[in-house]
Amino acid sequence: MCGIVGAIAKRNTVPILLEGLKRLEYRGYDSAGLAVVDGGALRRIRSTGRVAELEKFAQADAVSGALGIAHTRWATHGAPEERNAHPHVSGGVSVVHNGIIENHDAMRERLRAKGYAFVSDTDTEVIAHLVHSNLQGGRSAEHTLFDAVKKSVAELIGAYAIAVVSESDKSCFIVARHGAPLLLGLGDGENFAASDTSALIQVTQRVVYLEDGDVAEITLGGHTICDARGNTVARPVFVSQLTAGAVELGPYSHYMQKEIFEQPMAVANTLEMVTNAHSVAPQLFGADAEEVFRDIDSVLILACGTSFHAGMVARYWLEGFAGIPCNVEIASEYRYRDSVPDPKALVITISQSGETADTLAALQHAKAIGHRHSLSICNVPESALLRASGLRFLTRAGPEIGVASTKAFTTQLAVLALLTMVLAKLRGRLSAEGEGDLLDSLRHLPTALASVLQVEPLVKVWAEKFAGRHHALFLGRGIHYPIAMEGALKLKEISYIHAEAYAAGELKHGPLALVDEHMPVVAIAPNDALIEKLKSNLQEVRARGGELHVLADQDTRMTASDGVHVIRMPDHAGILSPILHTIPLQLLAYHAALQRGNDVDKPRNLAKSVTVE
Ligand code: AGP
Repeated sequence: MCGIVGAIAKRNTVPILLEGLKRLEYRGYDSAGLAVVDGGALRRIRSTGRVAELEKFAQADAVSGALGIAHTRWATHGAPEERNAHPHVSGGVSVVHNGIIENHDAMRERLRAKGYAFVSDTDTEVIAHLVHSNLQGGRSAEHTLFDAVKKSVAELIGAYAIAVVSESDKSCFIVARHGAPLLLGLGDGENFAASDTSALIQVTQRVVYLEDGDVAEITLGGHTICDARGNTVARPVFVSQLTAGAVELGPYSHYMQKEIFEQPMAVANTLEMVTNAHSVAPQLFGADAEEVFRDIDSVLILACGTSFHAGMVARYWLEGFAGIPCNVEIASEYRYRDSVPDPKALVITISQSGETADTLAALQHAKAIGHRHSLSICNVPESALLRASGLRFLTRAGPEIGVASTKAFTTQLAVLALLTMVLAKLRGRLSAEGEGDLLDSLRHLPTALASVLQVEPLVKVWAEKFAGRHHALFLGRGIHYPIAMEGALKLKEISYIHAEAYAAGELKHGPLALVDEHMPVVAIAPNDALIEKLKSNLQEVRARGGELHVLADQDTRMTASDGVHVIRMPDHAGILSPILHTIPLQLLAYHAALQRGNDVDKPRNLAKSVTVE
């Protein structure tokens, strides 16, 4: 979603701001803008095109300044038009904002009564006028921009990360966060702020993560942070491990393609701690994990989208192997539902970004109603979700830039398999031999993923046909049903083909009515206990003219025939089979989207980090 960059330096900050915005493009946006203090005057440029267009405007107008803020906007309040693009301005004050201000209507009325005129439909514009009004005419010992922003954010209800500059004070810019990500970047005689570390990779690796409620003044020489209670606080400085190479495309055409093919390495890195181990230990999940895991009697998984699908797969493992009751719930539903807390449940949140507003709020809600134990599985170090959880496991997939989540999903599944082993062992349901076998399977997983990626040319042939269709149906049974859901989500989000997933046994209870010769059907058909049941379901499809595309194991007895296309998986991974079957579905979506000429990495209407509810 929206991305923020801010900079103060002794040089022109416009190239730094634009480079930062380019690196935040992956978050999803529909307009962009920047404002700099140039001499004593504020200059603003905005565009409803890509950041590259904003760059052209900046060059054409020779915009420069040693102090500036910039923004990519993902529209919430007001259409993606230039007048709604950030920065918003009030007098000499300019503001960029990520999040939603819930009390913007009431504030707009108050500010109108004071004489402020509104020119956009955004909630953000109220912040600009509010800061201007609280600044009361410029810097003095009592009324600095820092004071004005602190006073202003105290009046805001909602989620925000903001950056503010004022032409009346060239010595600083101010940032504040509450429920949306923001960090400071520390340079040498120059300092920065951004929504994430990737935006600042070209200028610094030293970062300070702001906490909710923090307001910070950033100057050339340093920064001052005030916490929610108004106390001056020092936050730790981290050296980001992110390298420029990790966020470059390299030989690939798209980030999604790169990330699909990085999966063997991403899973190997994530499982590094068990690669040479002969057994698994609870401490993989944190120093207190054993005590927590011995206390729990159930698991509650909360997540959104692809991460929710990982949770659904995990339910089969956790109940089937560890014998622990497991519920999986969509975070945005759970947070508003009257549910019955179980103080002995382990609340697991799963998230690639660790920023997803619904997942964060669901965790907060779970804690508020009495859950005591929490574990987060997340791909971003120091993310809000990791910091809010008692136990944590960092997947080491590396930065995931494509909006469609790929390597984050398979690494989440690898961790959830590991968790299942740990819990099964603690509950006396895993023999030493079984533990050894499962560890072998986990060790083999990167190799198996690499061989499954070889099916790409076969999947591409399917994708060419899918690209011309309007609908598709994905079928699976048991633990592969959530994989069918993931396949359908991937296809719809980047190819815009309407896709539905069903547990194959449910087909005859309604969706079979949709099947005719225009409905391509993908079936995930590993040679497991449900294969014969699945085959019967597929007969029902074929009998109605539906064209079948079957992902089968080598030993699944299914042969290609008229209207039945079979791709055999080159490797299998026992209980880890769902992880392998995900790969062809990611490739199918990728190639179908390419065929349709879509922007694979930045699909319409979607954002990478969903930081608003
Ligand atoms: C996946 O391809 C999606 N873009 C989306 O469903 C995503 O998984 C969801 O928004 C959750 O994000 P998170 O994992 O960062 O919490």
